[in-house]
Amino acid sequence: MFLRPYDPARDFEDACRIWKEVGWMEDGQEEIEKSFLDGSTAWAAEWNGHVESLVTVAPGEMRYLDADLRLAAVTGVVVGRVARKQGLGMRLTAKALAEAAANGAQVGGLSIFDQGFYDKLGFGTGGYEHSFTFDPADLTVPNPSRPPIRLTKDDWERVHAARRKGRRGHGSCILHPAGLTRADMLWEKKAFGLGYTNEDGELTHFLWASPKNVAHGPYTVWWLVYRNGAQLLELFSLLKSWSDQVHTVEIGEPPEIQMQDLLRQPFRTRRTRREGKHRLESRAAAYYQWRILDLPACIASMRVSAPLRFALHLHDPIGRYLPENAPWRGLTGEYTLSLGETCTVHPGGETGLPVLEASVGAFTRWWLGVLPASSLALTDDFQAPPALLSALDEALCLPQPHPRWEF
Ligand SMILES: CC(C)(COP(=O)(O)OP(=O)(O)OC[C@H]1O[C@@H](n2cnc3c(N)ncnc32)[C@H](O)[C@@H]1OP(=O)(O)O)[C@@H](O)C(=O)NCCC(=O)NCCS
Repeated sequence: MFLRPYDPARDFEDACRIWKEVGWMEDGQEEIEKSFLDGSTAWAAEWNGHVESLVTVAPGEMRYLDADLRLAAVTGVVVGRVARKQGLGMRLTAKALAEAAANGAQVGGLSIFDQGFYDKLGFGTGGYEHSFTFDPADLTVPNPSRPPIRLTKDDWERVHAARRKGRRGHGSCILHPAGLTRADMLWEKKAFGLGYTNEDGELTHFLWASPKNVAHGPYTVWWLVYRNGAQLLELFSLLKSWSDQVHTVEIGEPPEIQMQDLLRQPFRTRRTRREGKHRLESRAAAYYQWRILDLPACIASMRVSAPLRFALHLHDPIGRYLPENAPWRGLTGEYTLSLGETCTVHPGGETGLPVLEASVGAFTRWWLGVLPASSLALTDDFQAPPALLSALDEALCLPQPHPRWEF
């Protein structure tokens, strides 16, 4: 196995073949992959003279409270049918992350096919994302007060610009390459958008959706992008305007609201529409994972009201999948953390301090605010004396992290 940078001229055909094998594209959709790769870094694993694994990493930002950290977003990990379970996927992802970390990425993120695989590379599970299917006729918002504009797949540049300026919050991400937005817009054949502009003609808020059945739905809203609450409600009014025809809409819950607040008698309708293609339901799943790549930068972004010092013994499993010449080897080590108005970390665990032993994935979950320390101590690789766990619980009280950008 030979791990190297992806070479578009040489490897594009192989890359398309693998993507087709895993079902991410069909014949005739090569433009999607070209656009997807544009602006991202890709790594290839050669196996018997062909590229059999491809890992793509997009540069971006993740907001931690009010600071933006440099994000390496792993947007794709694929292995061809002839090379599964040979360690290609794991090793190539480890290499891609090490290169990103060596080039200044401070935090890594990805969405998972299942829990467990990326834990081996030091990732920890993020917060729950809620999704709702509802009948637009049940929305309690008013009808729209003005018509939207139509958005098509040709509008990818203004759509990308609007996504970049969308509402941010703790854990929210921006992925820089516009090609990713274009690729996502090309993916769904019947996708369409509706939105609103300001006086300068700039797209301020919009939705991007696609129907399973054009006449009656269900419709999936892939993106709901807005800068403020009034714009969010205006987009819900738009969804309501479909209700004479469309019976079901599926949406990811916007982090600032509880969808139930916008629905008339949500339990009654759920009881009467439990089955069939127009069934109504809500689901929760934590399908993003995160890991700290640059410990000093991530600790520096914290703000803690009651000062706290402790030793951190961190285990990072990524090292076992990295080649010997990797430019970065993970974060295994002993550190001293001083948390307060300013937060710092120094190499070496000072003696006499209480000790937190954690995997980098579990520590990332605490740092990001996914779960308090005392909960992680029950279910993850996170151990400390009870007094330190209580102090860690009190030290951090963060909003739930939501990426708001699908990848
Ligand atoms: C997922 C995928 C990338 C794995 O590639 P791979 O090269 O076969 O994986 P590796 O050989 O590096 O690692 C496989 C190991 O991970 C383990 N593993 C897989 N899923 C796991 C899980 N959920 N929890 C723990 N371990 C897991 C396997 O058991 C295997 O270990 P073993 O060799 O001891 O049996 C490949 O199956 C694929 O391309 N799938 C389709 C596309 C896809 O879903 N990509 C992921 C997008 S997030």
